[in-house]
Amino acid sequence: STPSSLSTSSTSSSTRTSSYSVQKQDIKVDPSHFKKIRLLGKGDVGSVYLVQNEDTKKLYALKVLSKKEMVKRNKIKRVKVEQAILSMAHHPFIVPLYHSFQSKDYLFFCLEYCVGGEFFRALQLRPGKVLKEHEARFYAAEVVAALEYLHLHGLIYRDLKPENILLHQSGHIMLSDFDLSVQSPTTGNPTIVRSLSPLLFSQQPLLDTRSCSNVRTNSFVGTLEYLAPEVIQGNGHSSSVDWWTLGILLYEMIYGFTPFKGSNQNDTFDRIMTQKLDFPQFGSNPYFSGPQITNDCKSIIRKLLNKDENKRLGTRAGASELKSHAFFKPINFALLRHMRPPILP
Ligand code: ADE
Repeated sequence: STPSSLSTSSTSSSTRTSSYSVQKQDIKVDPSHFKKIRLLGKGDVGSVYLVQNEDTKKLYALKVLSKKEMVKRNKIKRVKVEQAILSMAHHPFIVPLYHSFQSKDYLFFCLEYCVGGEFFRALQLRPGKVLKEHEARFYAAEVVAALEYLHLHGLIYRDLKPENILLHQSGHIMLSDFDLSVQSPTTGNPTIVRSLSPLLFSQQPLLDTRSCSNVRTNSFVGTLEYLAPEVIQGNGHSSSVDWWTLGILLYEMIYGFTPFKGSNQNDTFDRIMTQKLDFPQFGSNPYFSGPQITNDCKSIIRKLLNKDENKRLGTRAGASELKSHAFFKPINFALLRHMRPPILP
């Protein structure tokens, strides 16, 4: 091709599909080069701002973490793990970290800006808060691809839920928020897991790391609905917890609610541990009628939400067990990044 056709094609691909063609860019590693535009979200030790590089005009999501808060809340190791994971991960469906730098009082993570914001918010704006099955399949497949990548690198995401899935301009998803992720004890560094486990396997960190920007922030029950039975029991050490949470996500995308939500924290715990999975036929949701969920979809949800992690889909052979399930038959995983995403909301 001619140089001009090359440059045209690279321009269009960077606008439509930049989620997988992102390059680490040569940006100045100094907070003074970024103009703050607005707050995107708040966590317990810092905030995420939409910022613009004054020189290049490119937008970024800048995560600003207070060193004082990190020390006070004993989060130094977890922030280090998050940084290590983000700098290691290069995957189309994982938010790229371009740079990290620090001042005397703050750490800064300069991340790809995902203009669509939280998948959770987009889901809330849908009538009945639901997706069609083929749309849910697309997003679930992208999550499978991202989790497969993390697991192959010895990492467990542990915190999958619609609030932690961001929508990129391309319409594809990007996993963010790695502060609860751990290195798997079998393939990762056991020292890190040991030093983190008292925090990671209690419920408290799951609650206080919620972003303040969404409706679930103050809902004690809401943040527990994705916990796997073995995490509640305090044995949540394997990558199988991610396949459980994917099952909850798929169910929520289809039904508009999670399957084990109780009236209070203990009720939710009880339901996760003991309640049989139910697929309501004609429930209270006027936008969903039972027959729209196929048997393949029910089958994969049932297999992901097996309370016995040893029997759960994905536990023995990883993501390939999911990819070969009939539910994902319409998906070509190798071409997923080139598929046209659903339009949300
Ligand atoms: N909120 C938190 N991180 C974000 C990001 N990278 N893009 C958009 N919104 C965000």
